[in-house]
Amino acid sequence: MTQIQKYPIAWRVLHWLMALMIFALIPVGIVMAERAEANLWGALTNTLYSWHKLIGFTVLLLMVVRIVMKVRLKGPAYPDTLPRHLQLAAHSLHHLLYVLLVLTPLFGWAGVTAYPALITVGGYHLPPMPFVPVDEALASRLFGIHGALAIALGVLIVGHIGAAMKHLIDKDGLFRRML
Ligand code: HEM
Repeated sequence: MTQIQKYPIAWRVLHWLMALMIFALIPVGIVMAERAEANLWGALTNTLYSWHKLIGFTVLLLMVVRIVMKVRLKGPAYPDTLPRHLQLAAHSLHHLLYVLLVLTPLFGWAGVTAYPALITVGGYHLPPMPFVPVDEALASRLFGIHGALAIALGVLIVGHIGAAMKHLIDKDGLFRRML
């Protein structure tokens, strides 16, 4: 059996940390937006918004670290046993995930800057996004784009998990590279 190399430890820690954050962000985002739509304002809705904004902004900052890491550290190559078209599909899906993981929080941040609603957990305020004016109509358009990007991200993540599960079942060692 060929020896499968793992991703560097920092890369694996960041991967699972961000996976946890995104698993929380998507359902929390949907629930809080539905509560706002139903005009259910109160402590729970405010708490969900506060945590969503703080965790979402942290994802954006961690993406900067992750992109620097991707450029500087080389991940292990795919084994020759993985067909070329699957290697290409995996590369494309991973790059698209990176793009959405940057654009989704950027639009959320732009939305809360335009609204403005920068307050998060414990009264801590996020910095406003430079060059974004305070404009409620603009905020609503930015939130619409943010929601659509988040749903597209959720769909891609389902595909990503499906592919990971296939590697786990096939026991081809590819799942273990990220453990
Ligand atoms: C990867 C990071 C993020 C993900 C996956 C995510 C996901 C989501 C989802 C699924 C929704 C519900 C959309 C809907 O049902 O219409 C949502 C709404 C929202 N998100 Fe995020 N989000 C992220 C980052 C952020 C950031 C960084 C902020 C702000 C700093 C933010 C602020 C908001 C706000 C204010 C809403 C409610 C919009 C509304 O009421 O229409 N999000 N998010």
